[in-house]
Amino acid sequence: MASSIANQRDRKTTVKRPWKHRETTVNLKRLGILLSGRGSNFLAIADSIAEGRLTAEIAVVISNRVDAPGIAAARERGFNAQVLASKGLDREIYDRQLIHILRENQVDLVCLAGYMRLLSGHFISEFRARIVNIHPSLLPAFPGLDAQHQALEHGVKFSGCTAHFVEEGLDSGPIIRQAVVPVEDGDTVESLSARILMEEHRIYSQAIALVLSGRFRIDGRRVIAG
Ligand code: GRF
Repeated sequence: MASSIANQRDRKTTVKRPWKHRETTVNLKRLGILLSGRGSNFLAIADSIAEGRLTAEIAVVISNRVDAPGIAAARERGFNAQVLASKGLDREIYDRQLIHILRENQVDLVCLAGYMRLLSGHFISEFRARIVNIHPSLLPAFPGLDAQHQALEHGVKFSGCTAHFVEEGLDSGPIIRQAVVPVEDGDTVESLSARILMEEHRIYSQAIALVLSGRFRIDGRRVIAG
């Protein structure tokens, strides 16, 4: 699989760099964030950009749920925040509308950030190798819902999180980055989830930066940087 982000047509965006005397023109890749809930990973990405750790811009934030706190946070921060309610809609019909909004906003990379809906094959083929996700376990262990609960039930001593490309199978695409979180004897789902979440916030932006840089190749299932 080739890195298709790097092949995207470059757009020039003028940004003010406070440490420079003149405005400079750089190419900012455009992120489309999809979320369904709290939105802490979206906010971590926004902070990484604001703090200069990730060179990108958030073109649009889309929620499939009207009441997602993440979309309220996006609005408060002045992002282009849109709700496209999915309830009762056929998956592919919904995804076609989603693709329309993402294209309208010239999105280069789709970042799932707690997006609680499976993507159709059509969506995945439209954004092939340009969709990433963050999952709260060390994949391929514990895919799907309630990964932290699954980890505790299984009795693993180490869990963590995984940033990965999205393919047709559930939580199955090539792994971009992982972080390990030791499980403590007294852990509950809440305490383990909280420690994993801190690592999610850290590695997701790093994974996005790598993908946007185009400085990697995919050899079989292995994402190799450099
Ligand atoms: C995170 O644990 C993420 O790994 C999973 O869904 C949760 C979303 O949390 N995919 P938030 O909405 O980003 O706070």
